[in-house]
Amino acid sequence: MKTLLDDLSTILTMAFEEAGVSSRSIEVSYSRRPDLCDFQCNSALKCAASIHKEPIELAQKVATILGKQEIFLEVTAQNPGFVNLKLSSDWIAERLKQMNQMERLGYKLSDNPQNLLVDFGGANVAKSLHVGHLRSAVIGESLIRMLYFSGHNVIGDIHLGDWGLQMGYVIEMVRLKDADLPYFEETELDGYPEQAPFDIAELTALYTQANIKSKSDETFKAKAAQATAELQKGRKGYLALWHHIMAVSKSDLKRNYDHLQVHFDLWLGESDSQEVIPSVLNHLDEMKLLVESEGAKVVHVGTESDKKPMPPCIMQKANGAALYATTDLATIYQRTLDQKLDGIIYVVDKRQDLHFEQVFRVARTSHIAPPSFKLKFIGFGTMNGLDGKPFKTRDGGTMALSDLVEIITKSALEKLEKYSQLDSQDEKVQAALKIGVGALKFADLSNQSDKDYVFDIDQFTSFEGKTGPYIQYAVVRIVSILNKLSEKGVKAAEYFNGETAIEKTLMLKLATFSDWVNMATETYQPSKICDYAFDVAQTFNTLYHEVHVLKNSVKRQSELMNLLCLTREVLEECLWLLGIEALEKM
Ligand code: ARG
Repeated sequence: MKTLLDDLSTILTMAFEEAGVSSRSIEVSYSRRPDLCDFQCNSALKCAASIHKEPIELAQKVATILGKQEIFLEVTAQNPGFVNLKLSSDWIAERLKQMNQMERLGYKLSDNPQNLLVDFGGANVAKSLHVGHLRSAVIGESLIRMLYFSGHNVIGDIHLGDWGLQMGYVIEMVRLKDADLPYFEETELDGYPEQAPFDIAELTALYTQANIKSKSDETFKAKAAQATAELQKGRKGYLALWHHIMAVSKSDLKRNYDHLQVHFDLWLGESDSQEVIPSVLNHLDEMKLLVESEGAKVVHVGTESDKKPMPPCIMQKANGAALYATTDLATIYQRTLDQKLDGIIYVVDKRQDLHFEQVFRVARTSHIAPPSFKLKFIGFGTMNGLDGKPFKTRDGGTMALSDLVEIITKSALEKLEKYSQLDSQDEKVQAALKIGVGALKFADLSNQSDKDYVFDIDQFTSFEGKTGPYIQYAVVRIVSILNKLSEKGVKAAEYFNGETAIEKTLMLKLATFSDWVNMATETYQPSKICDYAFDVAQTFNTLYHEVHVLKNSVKRQSELMNLLCLTREVLEECLWLLGIEALEKM
């Protein structure tokens, strides 16, 4: 079914036509004054001149035409030329009835379903996940769900950072600890040890030490760069060590992402593009795009219309090593060749926008990505601590993501220990994980993706205010009422009756489900779903306090039951779209 706003816009376009304004698409929006009306249309202000009328005259005419239609309870024209609309409850009730019977609550699938790949997560192997990786994972997971919900065929690829300088760092650090290990022998061996020379904690420590060392030790840094280049050229001993880094890192990453309920269909990385890099460079060369610059090979991507500096995109270092841009371009090359993809959506820190702009430009001018192929960069802002600076541990270090999940889960468990209806400790621990992760995800997603935001653990685990647990708790309350009604043998009515004002308000909000999902998907903004879910949850809570469902007549109980069933479905669908689990008890 079409969204409510789309339906209203069609109806208003017809009314404007009847009033003499020829076929323009008329816009309807949510009312900025919900006390006065549900929706408003400001188009008379724009269109009146075309028919030589004052806006208010046109608005009045349109209001008279619309006032005769059953869908509206009231239509009024307001100075200087607004049309204010109030919908009739019967019409909303009918709409909800349809919505109730349809799949996806009537949300219409896209007319143009596409095969899309979402490149997100972007973890770097050898480093453990830190809070900086949260946003990509959480936003990416939600976008995948939203796109899938709209009928697109979507796959997620983690695109591991597994081929860059950090590999050389680890290799050189391992050598410093024990240069006698077989990986460093000059002549290649037939086989290398099967057991990794480190576990995840040791690997992370190696990387951290190497990172610190590289800041003061130029020789070390140069050796690491050399090791990276040799690894990329296929030196067997280094490759064997690299496989260990990959295996140890991946299992740790999988565990961490599982905790967050974030899933990837593909676990490919920068290294997987290595095999096509020579063809890509060749292709750029043949197209006369590749230029020598201080020994390196670059592509000039700047144009005259650029307002910001647009440095050339470096494709190969003087020592022959590939760079971040090379692997990204080569990956686009593979993705356009192999999978019948229509486009790639990247969910990456917004500070990488220049990198992506450069890579996209090379991809376009080299025809690696045809014009119809979508390349979309969704840059997200930083998650900051209460001091407004990037979120840190108490001693100022980078906080591991697993530690953050633990802190927030603990905070949720403490609350459950005070208030929970759950009996066993095990159930409480399970619920605390769902609530903790829900709090974390909601806190992140409820901010517009490209903005920085301040993360406050106490605030976000609260069951009050605009938080994940608040929405989860609303569902729990609904489930509890529904269970009590079922126990009493009440059956849900098959119609909606907006008897009280708060029921009407809730009904109207439920009827706009598709509008919000649509808006969120079109703008790639899960925050819109957070806004909507919070609004519905709040409206339900008002109803909960005003209307004591169980004290009503059987008829009213059954009507309210129907309304609550739909409210539950809407909230659960929103939570699913956000990648958050709903609970039945907490
Ligand atoms: N590994 C990168 C980083 O940590 C992010 C990867 C993003 N995806 C991509 N295709 N470049 O910065």
